Amino acid sequence: MPRWLGPAPQPKVAILGAAGGIGQPLSLLVKINPLVSQLSLYDLVNTPGVAADLSHIMTDSEVKGFKGDAELKPALEGAQIVVIPAGVPRKPGMTRDDLFNINAGIVKTLATAIATTCPKALIAVISNPVNSTVPIVAEVLKAHGVYDPRRLFGVTTLDLVRAAKFISPHTGAITAVPVIGGHSGATIVPVVSAVSSAKGISAADRAALIQRIQFGGDEVVKAKDGAGSATLSMAYAGSLFVDSLLKGLTGKATPKEYTFVNSEVAKEFGLEYFASEVTLGPNGVETYHALPSLDADEKKLLEVCVNDLKANIAKGVDFVKNGS
Ligand code: NAD
Ligand code: LMR
Repeated sequence: MPRWLGPAPQPKVAILGAAGGIGQPLSLLVKINPLVSQLSLYDLVNTPGVAADLSHIMTDSEVKGFKGDAELKPALEGAQIVVIPAGVPRKPGMTRDDLFNINAGIVKTLATAIATTCPKALIAVISNPVNSTVPIVAEVLKAHGVYDPRRLFGVTTLDLVRAAKFISPHTGAITAVPVIGGHSGATIVPVVSAVSSAKGISAADRAALIQRIQFGGDEVVKAKDGAGSATLSMAYAGSLFVDSLLKGLTGKATPKEYTFVNSEVAKEFGLEYFASEVTLGPNGVETYHALPSLDADEKKLLEVCVNDLKANIAKGVDFVKNGS
């Protein structure tokens, strides 16, 4: 059949940091996604083994491992989606912002390679602190003249995954909860008032629920006791987000996701980035959705969120613009 009558070519997904705690299970979940045709696994270490292992799975996608700086660009060539879980995770007592000094440089290097190799790719940033690493990627893309705000995403899906799970004892079922703002502590703003089946929840239970969603990451960091932060739940959440990007690329579906993006919603708060709901399509974001209405308590949470986000975003921008 001539190419133009055949199915649309299926995408190549590159995962940067693919041998890590998130990288390996995420690579597995992306390998079994039927919408993927090529899977490119990049890390500083161990990717040949991870790729060989995954390549035996009987799904159609081809897997290749790329190791070390010299193989970064080959890993990215032709990628339509790039996922970045590269970088160090927290230990007990650390905030996500404490990761900035190491992860900012890692993310900047990876973003530079994306800008010069696959500038049209949809980029999903997992590396923390997301509130600052997304601005870093954006500034690098801007410096190369290839920034398209519709194609750059901070992955906040784990906050929604946690919220849906943590609210379930109150609603009797896994229940979607909008989570807006950013991805760290007080910048994570769950909008419980938008959940009709949670109307009967007591004030104390609601406060505890919100606190747990905001600080769910700390729960895992503490339980892992020095061995890192959430990896398996993050891989699950990341695979949901990648699946939505893939479905959007087909042009036949209109998946919706909450994600940390540059938007008009962000501008309303004087910010450049803010996590809110978008509809995805072949070019990334198709539609930016308005926020759900917030009650008085949620408006207070949002005030704190916006203040923190301003500082987090400025830190990322400064890192690229002024090297600080
Ligand atoms: P990890 O240490 O297990 O794995 C990180 C991987 O990154 C390692 O394999 C390492 O070799 C690799 N790496 C380091 N520098 C690199 C570079 N320059 N190029 C390519 N690869 C490089 O850590 P993890 O548990 O997988 O966490 C990774 C990051 O994801 C952390 O920053 C963590 O805080 C973050 N995270 C984010 C979310 C979220 O919701 N967005 C959730 C969990 C973790
Ligand atoms: C999470 O929410 O689990 C991640 O951001 C990792 C962390 O540092 O808590």
